[in-house]
Amino acid sequence: MTDKYRFPADFLWGTATSAYQIEGSPAADGAGRSIWHRFSHTHDNTFLDQTGDIACDHYRRYKDDVRVMSELGLNAYRFSIAWGRVFPEGTGKVNRKGLDFYSRLVDALLEKGIKPNATLFHWDLPEALDDRGGWLNRDIAEWFSDYAGTMWEALGDRVDMWSTLNEPWVVTDGGYLHGVLAPGHANPFETAIASHNLMRSHGMAVQRFRSSNAAQKGKIGIAVNLEPKYPASQSAEDLDATRRADAYMNRQYLDAIFLGHYPEEMREIFGEAWPEWPDEDMRLIKQPIDFLGVNYYTRGVTRYHRELRPVQVKRVPQPQSITTQTDWEVFPAALTRILLWVTERYGRPPIHITENGAAFYDPPQPIDGRVDDPLRAEYFRQHLRAAHDALSKGVDLRGYFAWSLLDNYEWALGYSKRFGLVHVDYETQQRTIKSSGRYYASVIASNGTELAK
Ligand code: FCB
Repeated sequence: MTDKYRFPADFLWGTATSAYQIEGSPAADGAGRSIWHRFSHTHDNTFLDQTGDIACDHYRRYKDDVRVMSELGLNAYRFSIAWGRVFPEGTGKVNRKGLDFYSRLVDALLEKGIKPNATLFHWDLPEALDDRGGWLNRDIAEWFSDYAGTMWEALGDRVDMWSTLNEPWVVTDGGYLHGVLAPGHANPFETAIASHNLMRSHGMAVQRFRSSNAAQKGKIGIAVNLEPKYPASQSAEDLDATRRADAYMNRQYLDAIFLGHYPEEMREIFGEAWPEWPDEDMRLIKQPIDFLGVNYYTRGVTRYHRELRPVQVKRVPQPQSITTQTDWEVFPAALTRILLWVTERYGRPPIHITENGAAFYDPPQPIDGRVDDPLRAEYFRQHLRAAHDALSKGVDLRGYFAWSLLDNYEWALGYSKRFGLVHVDYETQQRTIKSSGRYYASVIASNGTELAK
C-alpha cells in the first residue's frame, strides 16, 4: 500500500457530538432546562415537534457509547457540556450531580485511551439565562467565564483540549436573524449584539483560562463553521455578494479573533444595526488561541439577491454535484481551500477539523445486522483526502473529528436526518456500526494510508 495519505503519528482521529443532540434526560439529577428544551417544546418549531427529551439516551448509556468509540479505534472524542446541568440557573450554585456526569464520561474515555475534547457551549443555553436576556445581555461574558472556570477546576486535570463556543455564526444567524433555531428571534439589531457578546464571552473565557491551573497542560480554542464562497458568475453584483457572504459567515469571527477587528462589510450588511464597538471589546476578543476548530460541510456558490436582506445573497444549487440529504453540495476541494486560506490569512494557526460529515438516506433499520451507507463512506474518503492535501501543502492540521458518532437529534430537523457513523434505532436504542463507521475505523487503523485505495 502506498504511503501517500499517511497522517502524522500523533494525529487525532475522533468523532464529534453535542449534549442536547444525544444526551436526553434534560432535567435529570437537578439539571436546569435549556433554550433548546423550550424551543423544541413549542409547537411548530421543529420537524414533527420532535424534541431532545430522549435523543440517544446517552446520559444513561454513555459507557456503551464509549465502548463503541473504542471499537472504532478512536483516539479522541469531541463532546459538549450542557451548561444547565452544571449551573441549573446558569450562574450561582453548582449542581454537583450534573458535573459528575461529565467527570465520569471523561474517566470512561481516558480508560479507553480516548482523548477528551470538550466544548463549553454548543447552543443549549440555560433557559434561566435566556430569561435574563441571554446573549443580548453584556453580563453573559462573566456568566460564561465563571461557568468555564468551574469546568476547568473540575476537569482540567484530565481534559486538555477545550473549545469555548461551537459555531457562533449559526447561533446568531439561526437563533437571532432568521428565528429557525433557539431562541427563535428574528431581529438584525439583536443579531449584531448577540454575535458580539458571543465573541466577548469567548475572549473573556480565554483570558480567564490563561490564569487557571488548567492552562498549564491544556489548550483552548473555538470551533467555527467555515464555508468558502464562490461567485455564481463574474458579474460585479455576484462578486460583491460573494464578498459579503464571506465576511458575514467566515471573516466576521476569524478577523475579530486573529486581527482584532470586524470586516468592513458588517456595516454594509447590517447598516445602522451594526454599532461601533468599543476598542476594549475588540482587544478582549483578540486573545491568542492555541488552536482553531474548523467545522466544514460544504461550499456556497453565491448570487446576489436583492430581497434576501440583510446580506442579499442566495445560494445557487449545483445540479452537476451530489448533494446530501440536507441539500448541501458535496465539494471536498473547498475543504482544502478553506484550510489553506486560514493558514495564509491568519498566520498558520494549529487547526483541528472539529466537524465534517453528511446526512444521507440510510436504510431505516439494520438488515441482517448491517447498515450499508456507501455514500457516507465515500464522503469521508474524499474529505479526508482533501484534509491530507491541505496538510501536505503546509497546513498545521492536528486532528479530524467526524460528525457524528451517532445518528442524533438534528436540531429543528429533528430525527429526520441521520449523520452517524453508528446507526441508532430510536425505539430500542440499539447501536449498529454502519459500513461508513467500519471504513473510518480502517482509515484510523492505517493512519490514513487506506485512503489511497
Ligand atoms: C453543525 C452543528 C452540529 C450539527 C451539524 C450537522 O452546524 O455544529 O451540531 O448539527 O451541523
